[in-house]
Amino acid sequence: MKLTTEQKEQFERDGYLFFPGLFTPDETRTLTDAVPELYARQEEYNVREKGTNSVRTNFAAHMYSEPFARLGRHPRMIEPVEDLLGEKLYMHQFKINGKMAFEGDVWQWHQDYGTWKNDDLMPTERAMNIAIFLDEVNEFNGPLMFIPGSHKKGVIDAKYDLTTTSYPLWTVDNKLITQLVNRAGGSRGGIVSPKGPAGSMILFHSCLVHASTSNLSPFNRVAVYLSLCAVSNHIRRHKRPEYIAHRDFTPIECLPDDCLLKDYPVDLPWKDGVPQSAFVTTPEPFKIAA
Ligand code: SIN
Ligand code: MN
Repeated sequence: MKLTTEQKEQFERDGYLFFPGLFTPDETRTLTDAVPELYARQEEYNVREKGTNSVRTNFAAHMYSEPFARLGRHPRMIEPVEDLLGEKLYMHQFKINGKMAFEGDVWQWHQDYGTWKNDDLMPTERAMNIAIFLDEVNEFNGPLMFIPGSHKKGVIDAKYDLTTTSYPLWTVDNKLITQLVNRAGGSRGGIVSPKGPAGSMILFHSCLVHASTSNLSPFNRVAVYLSLCAVSNHIRRHKRPEYIAHRDFTPIECLPDDCLLKDYPVDLPWKDGVPQSAFVTTPEPFKIAA
Protein backbone atom coordinates (compact mmCIF):
# COMPACT_ATOMS: atom_id res chain seq x y z
CA MET A 1 0.00 0.00 0.00
CA LYS A 2 1.50 3.33 -1.10
CA LEU A 3 0.79 6.68 0.53
CA THR A 4 -0.26 9.62 -1.63
CA THR A 5 1.63 12.93 -1.52
CA GLU A 6 -1.36 14.41 0.29
CA GLN A 7 -1.22 11.68 2.95
CA LYS A 8 2.50 12.23 3.42
CA GLU A 9 1.93 15.97 3.89
CA GLN A 10 -0.88 15.27 6.34
CA PHE A 11 1.37 12.93 8.31
CA GLU A 12 4.12 15.57 8.37
CA ARG A 13 1.66 18.17 9.70
CA ASP A 14 -0.47 16.14 12.16
CA GLY A 15 1.81 13.24 13.11
CA TYR A 16 -0.76 10.56 12.32
CA LEU A 17 -2.93 9.06 9.56
CA PHE A 18 -6.24 7.28 10.09
CA PHE A 19 -7.55 4.52 7.77
CA PRO A 20 -11.12 3.63 8.85
CA GLY A 21 -12.11 0.04 8.01
CA LEU A 22 -8.81 -0.78 6.26
CA PHE A 23 -9.15 -4.47 7.16
CA THR A 24 -12.43 -6.25 6.33
CA PRO A 25 -14.59 -7.95 8.99
CA ASP A 26 -13.40 -11.37 7.68
CA GLU A 27 -9.76 -10.36 8.03
CA THR A 28 -10.25 -8.87 11.49
CA ARG A 29 -12.19 -11.90 12.74
CA THR A 30 -9.18 -14.25 12.46
CA LEU A 31 -7.37 -11.95 14.88
CA THR A 32 -10.25 -11.25 17.27
CA ASP A 33 -11.06 -14.96 17.59
CA ALA A 34 -7.51 -15.73 18.72
CA VAL A 35 -7.48 -13.17 21.58
CA PRO A 36 -9.43 -14.92 24.42
CA GLU A 37 -7.13 -17.96 24.42
CA LEU A 38 -4.04 -15.73 24.43
CA TYR A 39 -5.41 -13.59 27.27
CA ALA A 40 -6.28 -16.71 29.32
CA ARG A 41 -2.64 -17.84 29.46
CA GLN A 42 -0.90 -17.42 32.80
CA GLU A 43 2.30 -16.04 31.36
CA GLU A 44 4.50 -13.06 32.14
CA TYR A 45 3.76 -11.61 28.73
CA ASN A 46 0.16 -10.98 29.87
CA VAL A 47 0.23 -7.84 32.04
CA ARG A 48 -3.00 -7.55 34.09
CA GLU A 49 -4.76 -4.34 35.15
CA LYS A 50 -4.16 -3.16 38.71
CA GLY A 51 -6.30 -5.19 41.12
CA THR A 52 -8.16 -7.23 38.46
CA ASN A 53 -7.51 -10.24 36.27
CA SER A 54 -8.29 -8.32 33.06
CA VAL A 55 -5.42 -8.19 30.58
CA ARG A 56 -4.07 -4.69 30.04
CA THR A 57 -1.40 -5.72 27.53
CA ASN A 58 -0.38 -8.97 25.90
CA PHE A 59 3.15 -8.81 24.51
CA ALA A 60 4.81 -10.53 21.54
CA ALA A 61 1.87 -12.54 20.13
CA HIS A 62 3.57 -12.44 16.70
CA MET A 63 6.15 -14.85 18.18
CA TYR A 64 3.66 -17.57 19.17
CA SER A 65 0.28 -17.00 17.44
CA GLU A 66 -0.20 -17.68 13.73
CA PRO A 67 -2.77 -14.98 12.90
CA PHE A 68 -0.73 -12.31 14.69
CA ALA A 69 2.52 -13.52 13.09
CA ARG A 70 0.81 -12.97 9.71
CA LEU A 71 -0.44 -9.54 10.75
CA GLY A 72 3.14 -8.58 11.67
CA ARG A 73 4.11 -9.13 8.02
CA HIS A 74 1.10 -7.44 6.43
CA PRO A 75 1.93 -5.16 3.49
CA ARG A 76 -0.92 -2.76 4.34
CA MET A 77 0.98 -1.86 7.52
CA ILE A 78 4.60 -2.43 6.66
CA GLU A 79 4.79 -0.73 3.24
CA PRO A 80 3.55 2.76 4.25
CA VAL A 81 5.96 2.79 7.21
CA GLU A 82 8.88 1.65 5.02
CA ASP A 83 7.89 4.42 2.63
CA LEU A 84 7.89 7.09 5.38
CA LEU A 85 11.14 5.96 7.03
CA GLY A 86 12.90 5.07 3.75
CA GLU A 87 14.33 1.86 5.14
CA LYS A 88 13.54 -1.77 5.98
CA LEU A 89 11.94 -2.31 9.39
CA TYR A 90 12.14 -4.71 12.30
CA MET A 91 9.53 -5.31 15.00
CA HIS A 92 10.54 -3.44 18.15
CA GLN A 93 7.36 -4.16 20.11
CA PHE A 94 4.11 -5.99 19.52
CA LYS A 95 1.16 -5.73 21.91
CA ILE A 96 -2.54 -6.48 22.09
CA ASN A 97 -4.06 -3.97 24.50
CA GLY A 98 -7.26 -5.07 26.20
CA LYS A 99 -8.90 -1.91 27.57
CA MET A 100 -11.67 -4.28 28.62
CA ALA A 101 -15.26 -3.23 29.40
CA PHE A 102 -15.52 -1.59 32.87
CA GLU A 103 -11.93 -2.51 33.78
CA GLY A 104 -9.61 -0.99 31.17
CA ASP A 105 -7.41 1.57 32.93
CA VAL A 106 -5.94 4.87 31.66
CA TRP A 107 -2.78 5.38 29.62
CA GLN A 108 -1.24 8.63 30.84
CA TRP A 109 -0.02 11.30 28.39
CA HIS A 110 3.24 10.14 26.84
CA GLN A 111 5.41 9.81 23.75
CA ASP A 112 6.42 6.24 22.91
CA TYR A 113 9.87 7.34 21.85
CA GLY A 114 10.46 8.62 25.40
CA THR A 115 10.41 5.03 26.67
CA TRP A 116 12.35 3.60 23.75
CA LYS A 117 15.07 6.21 24.25
CA ASN A 118 15.25 6.10 28.04
CA ASP A 119 14.88 2.36 28.54
CA ASP A 120 16.10 0.76 25.32
CA LEU A 121 18.64 3.35 24.06
CA MET A 122 17.01 3.59 20.63
CA PRO A 123 19.26 6.20 18.95
CA THR A 124 16.64 8.36 17.16
CA GLU A 125 12.86 8.59 16.72
CA ARG A 126 12.99 6.76 13.35
CA ALA A 127 10.33 4.28 14.42
CA MET A 128 6.57 4.26 13.97
CA ASN A 129 3.46 3.01 15.68
CA ILE A 130 0.57 1.23 14.05
CA ALA A 131 -2.71 0.61 15.86
CA ILE A 132 -5.34 -1.78 14.52
CA PHE A 133 -8.76 -1.86 16.14
CA LEU A 134 -10.09 -5.35 16.88
CA ASP A 135 -13.29 -3.85 18.33
CA GLU A 136 -15.21 -0.78 17.28
CA VAL A 137 -13.71 2.27 18.95
CA ASN A 138 -16.26 4.86 20.03
CA GLU A 139 -16.40 7.82 22.41
CA PHE A 140 -17.31 5.54 25.31
CA ASN A 141 -14.63 2.85 25.38
CA GLY A 142 -11.50 4.93 25.93
CA PRO A 143 -10.34 5.92 22.43
CA LEU A 144 -6.76 6.93 21.88
CA MET A 145 -6.32 10.74 22.10
CA PHE A 146 -3.66 12.60 20.11
CA ILE A 147 -2.40 16.17 20.24
CA PRO A 148 -2.03 16.91 16.51
CA GLY A 149 1.39 18.29 15.56
CA SER A 150 2.92 17.47 18.96
CA HIS A 151 5.50 15.21 17.27
CA LYS A 152 7.21 18.39 16.05
CA LYS A 153 8.24 19.17 19.60
CA GLY A 154 10.79 16.33 19.32
CA VAL A 155 11.70 14.37 22.45
CA ILE A 156 10.06 15.83 25.53
CA ASP A 157 11.40 15.47 29.08
CA ALA A 158 9.38 12.77 30.80
CA LYS A 159 8.88 11.47 34.32
CA TYR A 160 8.97 7.78 35.15
CA ASP A 161 5.54 6.88 36.58
CA LEU A 162 5.53 3.54 38.37
CA THR A 163 2.33 3.92 40.37
CA THR A 164 -0.66 5.22 38.38
CA THR A 165 -1.33 1.94 36.56
CA SER A 166 0.05 -1.60 36.60
CA TYR A 167 2.51 -0.71 33.83
CA PRO A 168 5.43 1.77 34.23
CA LEU A 169 5.48 4.62 31.72
CA TRP A 170 7.56 7.75 30.96
CA THR A 171 4.86 10.43 31.16
CA VAL A 172 4.59 14.12 30.18
CA ASP A 173 3.54 16.70 32.81
CA ASN A 174 0.17 18.49 32.74
CA LYS A 175 1.61 21.98 32.20
CA LEU A 176 3.27 20.99 28.95
CA ILE A 177 0.19 19.04 27.84
CA THR A 178 -1.90 22.20 28.37
CA GLN A 179 0.53 24.24 26.25
CA LEU A 180 0.62 21.68 23.47
CA VAL A 181 -3.17 21.33 23.39
CA ASN A 182 -3.62 25.12 23.33
CA ARG A 183 -1.09 25.46 20.53
CA ALA A 184 -2.96 22.81 18.53
CA GLY A 185 -6.32 24.64 18.84
CA GLY A 186 -7.45 24.16 22.45
CA SER A 187 -10.96 22.75 22.74
CA ARG A 188 -11.32 23.13 18.95
CA GLY A 189 -9.00 20.49 17.54
CA GLY A 190 -6.23 20.51 20.16
CA ILE A 191 -7.11 16.89 20.97
CA VAL A 192 -8.40 14.38 18.42
CA SER A 193 -9.50 10.78 18.87
CA PRO A 194 -9.92 8.69 15.73
CA LYS A 195 -12.98 6.46 16.07
CA GLY A 196 -14.25 3.76 13.74
CA PRO A 197 -15.13 0.12 13.12
CA ALA A 198 -13.02 -2.92 13.94
CA GLY A 199 -10.37 -3.25 11.23
CA SER A 200 -9.48 0.45 11.23
CA MET A 201 -5.79 1.38 11.32
CA ILE A 202 -3.91 4.37 12.72
CA LEU A 203 -0.31 5.10 11.83
CA PHE A 204 1.37 7.54 14.25
CA HIS A 205 4.76 9.16 14.81
CA SER A 206 6.82 7.89 17.74
CA CYS A 207 7.01 11.43 19.18
CA LEU A 208 3.26 12.14 18.90
CA VAL A 209 1.90 12.83 22.40
CA HIS A 210 -1.03 10.53 23.22
CA ALA A 211 -3.14 9.08 26.04
CA SER A 212 -6.44 7.31 26.65
CA THR A 213 -8.97 7.41 29.47
CA SER A 214 -10.37 4.40 31.32
CA ASN A 215 -13.14 2.28 29.81
CA LEU A 216 -16.28 2.57 31.93
CA SER A 217 -18.48 1.34 29.08
CA PRO A 218 -19.73 -2.25 28.60
CA PHE A 219 -17.77 -2.38 25.30
CA ASN A 220 -14.30 -3.95 25.07
CA ARG A 221 -11.70 -1.94 23.17
CA VAL A 222 -9.10 -4.50 22.09
CA ALA A 223 -6.44 -3.09 19.76
CA VAL A 224 -3.12 -4.33 18.38
CA TYR A 225 -0.10 -1.99 18.50
CA LEU A 226 2.98 -2.63 16.43
CA SER A 227 6.09 -0.54 16.90
CA LEU A 228 8.20 -0.72 13.79
CA CYS A 229 11.77 0.56 13.89
CA ALA A 230 14.16 1.34 11.01
CA VAL A 231 16.73 -1.47 11.09
CA SER A 232 19.74 0.89 11.38
CA ASN A 233 18.05 2.57 14.37
CA HIS A 234 17.87 -0.62 16.44
CA ILE A 235 18.03 -0.43 20.23
CA ARG A 236 21.41 -0.49 21.98
CA ARG A 237 20.46 -1.89 25.39
CA HIS A 238 18.53 -4.90 26.71
CA LYS A 239 17.29 -3.35 29.94
CA ARG A 240 13.77 -4.73 29.36
CA PRO A 241 12.90 -8.38 28.71
CA GLU A 242 12.87 -9.48 25.09
CA TYR A 243 9.11 -10.04 25.00
CA ILE A 244 8.72 -6.25 25.62
CA ALA A 245 11.62 -4.85 23.55
CA HIS A 246 12.68 -7.25 20.79
CA ARG A 247 16.30 -8.15 20.05
CA ASP A 248 16.01 -9.63 16.57
CA PHE A 249 16.75 -6.84 14.09
CA THR A 250 16.14 -8.94 10.96
CA PRO A 251 14.23 -6.88 8.34
CA ILE A 252 10.55 -7.83 8.03
CA GLU A 253 9.61 -9.44 4.71
CA CYS A 254 5.94 -8.93 3.80
CA LEU A 255 3.48 -11.71 3.01
CA PRO A 256 0.89 -11.26 0.22
CA ASP A 257 -2.03 -8.90 0.83
CA ASP A 258 -4.49 -11.76 1.50
CA CYS A 259 -2.36 -13.19 4.33
CA LEU A 260 -5.10 -12.84 6.95
CA LEU A 261 -7.41 -15.03 4.87
CA LYS A 262 -5.01 -17.76 3.71
CA ASP A 263 -2.79 -20.01 5.80
CA TYR A 264 0.61 -18.85 4.58
CA PRO A 265 3.30 -20.59 6.64
CA VAL A 266 4.94 -18.40 9.29
CA ASP A 267 7.75 -18.97 11.76
CA LEU A 268 6.65 -19.11 15.41
CA PRO A 269 9.91 -19.10 17.39
CA TRP A 270 8.15 -19.00 20.80
CA LYS A 271 5.39 -21.52 20.00
CA ASP A 272 6.56 -23.88 22.75
CA GLY A 273 7.22 -21.15 25.29
CA VAL A 274 9.35 -18.06 25.79
CA PRO A 275 13.05 -19.00 26.07
CA GLN A 276 14.82 -18.22 29.35
CA SER A 277 17.19 -15.88 27.49
CA ALA A 278 14.26 -13.53 26.77
CA PHE A 279 14.01 -12.74 30.50
CA VAL A 280 17.69 -11.87 30.89
CA THR A 281 18.22 -8.12 31.10
CA THR A 282 21.41 -6.02 31.18
CA PRO A 283 21.70 -2.44 32.47
CA GLU A 284 24.72 -1.70 30.22
CA PRO A 285 24.53 -1.02 26.47
CA PHE A 286 25.64 -4.00 24.42
CA LYS A 287 28.59 -3.98 22.02
CA ILE A 288 27.85 -3.66 18.31
CA ALA A 289 30.00 -5.78 16.04
CA ALA A 290 32.18 -3.56 13.82
C1 SIN B 1 -0.20 3.05 24.35
O1 SIN B 1 -0.07 4.24 24.29
O2 SIN B 1 0.80 2.30 24.25
C2 SIN B 1 -1.53 2.41 24.49
C3 SIN B 1 -2.62 3.36 24.57
C4 SIN B 1 -3.95 2.69 24.51
O3 SIN B 1 -4.04 1.48 24.27
O4 SIN B 1 -4.94 3.39 24.68
MN1 MN C 1 1.95 4.75 23.61
